[in-house]
Amino acid sequence: MRFAADSDLPDPYDGLIESDNDQLLVHDCMGVRIFIDGEPWGVLTLDALAPGTFDNIDPMQLSTFISLTAATVKAAGMIASLEQRVRYATQTSFKYNADHDMIGDSECMRKLRNEISIVAPSELAVLILGETGVGKELVALRIHLESNRADQVMVYVNCAALPESIAESELFGHTKGAFSGAVSDRTGKFELANGGTIFLDEIGELPLSIQAKLLRTLQNGEIQRVGSDKQIKVNVRIIAATNRNLQQAVAAGLFRPDLYHRLAVYPLPVPALRERGKDVLLLAGAFLEKNQQRLGVKKLRLDQDARKTLLDYHWPGNIRELEHLLSRAALKSATPENRLADFITISPTYLDMGPEQLNLPPDDGPTPAVSPPAPSASIDFKNAVDEFQRQLIRQQLAAQQGNMAAAARVLGLDRGNFHRLLKRLEVK
Ligand SMILES: Nc1ncnc2c1ncn2[C@@H]1O[C@H](COP(=O)(O)OP(=O)(O)OP(=O)(O)O)[C@@H](O)[C@H]1O
Ligand SMILES: [Mg+2]
Repeated sequence: MRFAADSDLPDPYDGLIESDNDQLLVHDCMGVRIFIDGEPWGVLTLDALAPGTFDNIDPMQLSTFISLTAATVKAAGMIASLEQRVRYATQTSFKYNADHDMIGDSECMRKLRNEISIVAPSELAVLILGETGVGKELVALRIHLESNRADQVMVYVNCAALPESIAESELFGHTKGAFSGAVSDRTGKFELANGGTIFLDEIGELPLSIQAKLLRTLQNGEIQRVGSDKQIKVNVRIIAATNRNLQQAVAAGLFRPDLYHRLAVYPLPVPALRERGKDVLLLAGAFLEKNQQRLGVKKLRLDQDARKTLLDYHWPGNIRELEHLLSRAALKSATPENRLADFITISPTYLDMGPEQLNLPPDDGPTPAVSPPAPSASIDFKNAVDEFQRQLIRQQLAAQQGNMAAAARVLGLDRGNFHRLLKRLEVK
């Protein structure tokens, strides 16, 4: 659209641009709408002070220029969205490099797969329940991948790693200056997950104060950045997981009952490994194959007795325990002379169930007392206390299959402090 130089419409820049006589008229003016993917995006205007400036513009050149402008805008938008995806991939989203196959065809695993395929395409919140190491993260990923949001992001949040002081800002974001240290605006995980899925792992560890805020978001689909009173709408599918008994946590006043009911719209229990029958051998086969490649050795296989040992064991640490056990067995059995044979056969002697067990009472048993150092003429108090702490920590780590968060919880220590303690005591 080109305006005549003597158009009596008000000039858009009249009085807005400083000039000597305060009078500055724009005499030639034209504008064009810019469309991106068929949608009106904006207007490009060209203005000149002298009438007739646009008389000699070649219409072909002009339309080329306009198309280039549109293409540039589009490219900039694509770059911005790619940058955002990279940010998701490197900072916030699930680690997609893991092997996502769920191995197993026992009856209970078939049932689980079937449940996943029923609930995944719905928009329902899912609460994944199960002992440590049963594969809850894998189940969460499968739900996301089989949902209608599969091509959107899945943002991972480990609630056990969120100290109360920063949890709200992590989840909901904050505005610049909201608290000391908030040097710039920050997008929270819920906003990052917009359009996709958020996976709230170890939800049972979420502090009560944050539970209240999470409940509000689940109720009205809105979040509020710390330091802002603006409500932001988000469209996020919720998947949560825990190895805790949440109903007990509710009864003990550690978990809000209203939040529990919101999250547990579709509870999805993941069976323990000991309930999966021969799946143990399928999983073992897959893990041995991985180790075979990793160690660069010929075929690793289990002998009859080793198979029986695996089938008979009760697997308190579930699949994670099996995976670690076989990594050790593979390493120990791949001796230089064994490597010469066509097969490396793993017998029960290579299966050390148990460095993780240490004859401790079964789950949830009372914490065993640690024997104090033998008394002697003089005791170095500090070293003795350190040693006592080391023993207690090692016992608890073993009882929790090396799960630091769980060990810290049992010992009633803050996770950050627990890690610092491990470092100071040089507990590996
Ligand atoms: N069905 C399966 N097939 C193959 N690998 C599996 C399967 N289930 C679990 N795994 C593997 O076992 C390990 C433990 O699984 P995961 O981390 O999902 O456990 P979890 O239930 O989240 O445990 P925790 O409660 O301790 O966090 C992972 O390496 C995972 O890839
Ligand atoms: Mg987990």
